[in-house]
Amino acid sequence: MQHMKWIGGTIAGSAMMFAATSAFAVTIGFSQVGDEGDWRPAFSADMKAEATKEGIDLKYADAQGKEEEQLKAVRAFIAQKVDAILIAPVVVTGWDQVLKEAKAAGIPVFLADRDVDVADKSLFVTRISADFNLEGKLAGAWLAQASKGQCNVVEEQGTTGSAPAIERKKGFEAVISNFPNMKIVKSESGNFTTDGGKQVMESFIKATDGLKGICASFAHNDNMQLGAIQAMKEAGLKPGKDVLMVSVDYVPAMKQALAAGDANASVELRSAIGKYIYPVITGWLKDKKELPKWIVIPSDLHTAATPGS
Ligand code: AHR
Repeated sequence: MQHMKWIGGTIAGSAMMFAATSAFAVTIGFSQVGDEGDWRPAFSADMKAEATKEGIDLKYADAQGKEEEQLKAVRAFIAQKVDAILIAPVVVTGWDQVLKEAKAAGIPVFLADRDVDVADKSLFVTRISADFNLEGKLAGAWLAQASKGQCNVVEEQGTTGSAPAIERKKGFEAVISNFPNMKIVKSESGNFTTDGGKQVMESFIKATDGLKGICASFAHNDNMQLGAIQAMKEAGLKPGKDVLMVSVDYVPAMKQALAAGDANASVELRSAIGKYIYPVITGWLKDKKELPKWIVIPSDLHTAATPGS
């Protein structure tokens, strides 16, 4: 069985896989993390619009960042006997039991965006998402060249226990560990929000006497970085100049920060991914053909030098 498949790898195959199977009316229960930052509302809006376009009856549940709300929503979908359940899991742990209940009810589960840590992988059909570890690596590689391998980094982590926070950190560290003079000297969670990123950067500025000896800020998402930029400006610092700023998502407000020179690089996490996700679900409901456990959506690096690239 193929473990992983890149979207866009074999364009022909993917297009074939995504086009042919859309027109198939189903009811899908979607348990969404919440609406933190700018990226997730854009993702949710795309999922709702694409569902309408494809004639899918989407039951949407916003968990406001709480796993217990997601577990409740999934159990409600099971009771409603939806055709399929789609989950963007807020954190990776705590899913075994409810996924077993969905399986016992004969309802297939698909994962979008984030991941779960379950021993029995047959509890879900497939995951359709970006490769968060690769995103961390792209950010680390960009910083290594931009700093010529000499850099003390402060890190704004995402939601503790979430797949993007775990994997972006791992990917970033995997790259900078190749450079003896690159290291993370401070790291705290800003929970993927602008306010969270601002508070974390304010504490870093205090703890380092105004970011003395700090060469870069690596934020697990743009919103935290935008908060960090605010905090730095309020402290009289020049983000993007005094300190290199690299993050993930490439939301519109970050495009502006890149163009203004307040930030230097952002790894794009595509938000318009409904067109990839729904055909995978409806296709599987139609033919039950085994799928790779992970269908990967590409991530692209954007820099101040090439903001629109
Ligand atoms: O799961 C993806 C992450 O979730 C995004 O990078 C972040 O903006 C959101 O909170």
